[in-house]
Amino acid sequence: MLADPTTVTPPRSTRTSRVVAFTALGVVAVAVIAAMVVATVQFVEWRQALTRYESAALAQDEAVVGFMQAVGEIDAAREELLDIDSLVHSILELEDDLVPREATAALSSLRDNTTVILAPLVTLGSPEVTERPAEPTTLDVEALDRIANRIAYESKRIDGATANRIRSAESVRGFVAEAGTALRDLVAGIVTRGHEFVTERQDASEKSLLAFQSALDTLAETNAGELLEALDVVFDAAGQVAHSSNAVRLSDPNSVVVVVNKRRPLQPQSYAPELVRVNVPYVSTPLLRQEAAGPLVEMFAAFHAETGEQLRLQNSYRSYATQTNTYNYHVSTKGQAQADRGSARPGHSEHQTGLALDVDPVGGGCSIQQCFGDMVHGKWLEANAWRFGWIIRYPNGYEHITGYDWEPWHLRYVGVDVSTAMHSRGIATLEEYFGLDPAPTY
Ligand code: DAL
Ligand code: ZN
Repeated sequence: MLADPTTVTPPRSTRTSRVVAFTALGVVAVAVIAAMVVATVQFVEWRQALTRYESAALAQDEAVVGFMQAVGEIDAAREELLDIDSLVHSILELEDDLVPREATAALSSLRDNTTVILAPLVTLGSPEVTERPAEPTTLDVEALDRIANRIAYESKRIDGATANRIRSAESVRGFVAEAGTALRDLVAGIVTRGHEFVTERQDASEKSLLAFQSALDTLAETNAGELLEALDVVFDAAGQVAHSSNAVRLSDPNSVVVVVNKRRPLQPQSYAPELVRVNVPYVSTPLLRQEAAGPLVEMFAAFHAETGEQLRLQNSYRSYATQTNTYNYHVSTKGQAQADRGSARPGHSEHQTGLALDVDPVGGGCSIQQCFGDMVHGKWLEANAWRFGWIIRYPNGYEHITGYDWEPWHLRYVGVDVSTAMHSRGIATLEEYFGLDPAPTY
């Protein structure tokens, strides 16, 4: 009979093997669990390091965005500065009596400082953002932390560069604002002068005065971008006012722009101005209107300084009576037709206004002769008299307009505004400049 296997007691050696097997299993299990615990702890630490890395990276991304914005601010501020600088340069080139000197002085000093303001912008150079180190692929917490620290350091550097640029942009904006104030002051100054000009020129046409007033109103409202155009309109309108105002002034013997010719006698013909004696070398007593005296002295001094030669005053004011004698002398020596080409009839001579004179070289030569026009004296006067408010009143080739042959020695004071405008527009005669009829004959 076979034994019941459940009741069979295993042999001793088999029991021992089982205990060993269970124990080994237990050890393996504990080792596995321990390994799992270690792995979990490492994973958690790595996750935490990764979070630190990610937040450093995020902070750096934000720093870069801030930096790029600051770079944009600098670029925009630089553009504004360059725009306003070019406007200031153009405005400083404007030459018009309506532009107040105080305002242009402020603008000149701003212009001179622009380069100082721009210099640091140039050294700021291009963006200083370096590439971020790559994220490690291993679960190396220390390596990840090292990278996170480097990123954080880099972010701080970027933040510093950003702050630097923001400060620069603010200082440029401050400068631009100052220039804006100076331009507003300029506009205000021009408007004030414009109103004074209107008051002085009440004799001008109503149409021109209204147009000028409206140009001033527009100017007062204009922003920097349209300033030059608005100023152009104002200056043109002022020219129209002056022109139409001159229509009255051209007949007024007391005006420096009075036009006297064969068709426009002095009104009254017996007119006699108030005169001053001028301190220049002369042949006959140097008498002129006060307005013309200083500019004559300046012109003679400039001529001497620029050529080394000297001019003297041959002839200046002539009264109606003196002109009668002068004209009659010419008629008696060369006949009336020839006399009328070079000598005005009494009541028709500019010499009677106290604003005209004849010059000749100190030391003589070509005195009151056309060859004077070919001497350094005549050439210099033709090229430069306008700078002092004088014109050669009877230029070569304009007898059909002025009524007189070329007189390179005969100068007429008209004021710097008119002489400069005639020079810059290439207009040779007062008749053409003021749009008057030619006066070839009486
Ligand atoms: N010689 C100039 C035209 C005058 O007599 O006024
Ligand atoms: Zn003369």
